[in-house]
Amino acid sequence: MKKTVQIAIDGPAGAGKSTVAKILAQELGYIYIDTGAMYRALTYKIIKEKLDLTDISLLKELAEKTSITFDNGQGFANQLVYCDGEDVTQLIRSPGVNKLVSKVASIPEIREIMVLKQRNLSLTANVIMDGRDIGTVVLPDAKYKFFLTASLQERANRRLKELKEKGYNVQYAGVLDDIAQRDLMDSTRDVAPLKPARDAVIIDTSNMSLNEVVSKIKKIVLEGENRAL
Ligand code: DC
Repeated sequence: MKKTVQIAIDGPAGAGKSTVAKILAQELGYIYIDTGAMYRALTYKIIKEKLDLTDISLLKELAEKTSITFDNGQGFANQLVYCDGEDVTQLIRSPGVNKLVSKVASIPEIREIMVLKQRNLSLTANVIMDGRDIGTVVLPDAKYKFFLTASLQERANRRLKELKEKGYNVQYAGVLDDIAQRDLMDSTRDVAPLKPARDAVIIDTSNMSLNEVVSKIKKIVLEGENRAL
């Protein structure tokens, strides 16, 4: 079987990972896997089922049995996320999920299950996977690894715009605070904290356009793949 190509894109919230990954997936013909959406979908389910975050065995059971799938029929930019058959694409971006998801993602037993699910998704096709621990834990042998960053203020502005476009009534200060708190939790947790893999290309996107970021990554991947031919 031909070995699949894996591209890992990590970085903090609002660095532009998913927007960049979706465009690259479309242009390169790879599958896009949004691992943040997977943690969000599970968080949505935990809230819906009113589970206690300290009840690890129930949480593990839920993580194992919950089916999280993606529908890319309308292109990656319009990717739909399903949780046990329910379309949760919008629901997983709600302030309630935003508030809880870092806590859920910091539970080692949950991460173990999610990492296996994520690796399984990468076995059959060329993939672009984005998250926090893709280059370090989920796909440590990924051929291409990128770590996108941007200043906190820039990331808060981007998230604010995104949420407003989705119809949420949010303020800059609240969004900034939310991102800062998630950064702190994601980067200080014991298991798989947010950090660049040693072999990742670090890209500060604060003063770059979306096109510039996409072009930079695409150039590196295409050069690498041409060399491999
Ligand atoms: O990328 P995002 O904002 O949708 O991610 C939601 C949360 O999930 C965020 O707090 C970090 C966490 N996450 C993680 O711990 N590991 C991943 N691979 C992806 C996301």
